Amino acid sequence: MSTDPHLYETPSPSTETIAISESYDSGFEEIDDDVDMHSIADSGFNSIDAVTVASSIYDYQYENGRRFHSYRSGTYAQPDDNEEQDRLNLYHHVWLLMLRGNLFCAPINPSTCKTVLDLGTGTGIWAMDFAGHFENASVLGVDLSPIQPLYTPPNVTFLVDDVEEYPWSWIGWDWGFEGGEFDYIHCRNLAGSIRDWEAFITEIWNHTAPGGWVEFGESDCWLYSEDDSYSRAPNLKRYMECLIEATNISGASLDIWRQIEPALRKLGFVDIQKQKLKVPWSPWPKDPHYKEIGKYSKITNESGLASYGVARFKRFLNMPDDEFQELVSNARAELVDKSAHLLTDSWKIWARKPEVPDYGRFERMSIDSRR
Ligand SMILES: C[S@@+](CC[C@H](N)C(=O)[O-])C[C@H]1O[C@@H](n2cnc3c(N)ncnc32)[C@H](O)[C@@H]1O
Repeated sequence: MSTDPHLYETPSPSTETIAISESYDSGFEEIDDDVDMHSIADSGFNSIDAVTVASSIYDYQYENGRRFHSYRSGTYAQPDDNEEQDRLNLYHHVWLLMLRGNLFCAPINPSTCKTVLDLGTGTGIWAMDFAGHFENASVLGVDLSPIQPLYTPPNVTFLVDDVEEYPWSWIGWDWGFEGGEFDYIHCRNLAGSIRDWEAFITEIWNHTAPGGWVEFGESDCWLYSEDDSYSRAPNLKRYMECLIEATNISGASLDIWRQIEPALRKLGFVDIQKQKLKVPWSPWPKDPHYKEIGKYSKITNESGLASYGVARFKRFLNMPDDEFQELVSNARAELVDKSAHLLTDSWKIWARKPEVPDYGRFERMSIDSRR
């Protein structure tokens, strides 16, 4: 393991993650929901309301054989079952490959970065990796789903809540983040989750400490090829068109990365930087770095075709289940064709809140009057 906390040596793939693709073709898995209470229940926050919320977060919802979150049911249109958790964990590995081992791009360091927030933390894998390198930082991960591990590094706390409910009343609870300001706020793969990015980034501004950094990692939803080989994947093309339409109808569009930089600038963030990362959808490239990315991204895409669409195509496009299954199966077959040189672009965008912001530290930005 590197001694530089900015660097993270990518773990070698475990047989457990590789098994995603093998088990996937057998169809939707049986899900064992016999989980213990943790998260909010163990946090020390013990009002009657919190206890009620704590028990109900495990009343998972089921649709088309997949399991969905219960707290604020219907808010997020992707499953949170074992299969999706495996996909998220493997996609973390894809991000590490893309960033050549780095967990983040912002110039943060352990001597000044003490409080960290990971919004929409998913399985918490990024938060836990980060906490391992920044042992003196306290890391808070927030998600609608209680899918984080029971045993975590001591400097990580997970919380089930809705990051789109403003103001974030959960900051200031008994989490040790009483100041409500974070030295670093991280968000990754939240396209398709957040409805109003300007409101979301405004609340991020409100909770970024002066001089603190914010960072986003999002992927463009448009699939392309640099030659004309995208034409060899007509089912993937149709799938992506349906997905973009469904997410637009849902209000939580996938097509959002371009909104981030203007919103940061409008709020007063400075030192805004971005990095484009090409992501092959299968191991078609000759270059070993991109081939490696493609090897893992293909597995996540095989699984992601189902998880991104399973609820959205039904809820927002009224697509019958058999039509959806056929489209996914045909699209998945096209991923195998290495003559289709499919790519998407992912983006890292990071920015700093000024030490002396014009507004923000003592006077909160109002989400309703931000325009
Ligand atoms: C695609 S996953 C990304 C997870 C994680 N950031 C990562 O990169 O591995 C999106 C996550 O956002 C969460 N999410 C969606 N809407 C949310 C909301 N309004 N409040 C909190 N979490 C939300 C979902 O439950 C899901 O775990």
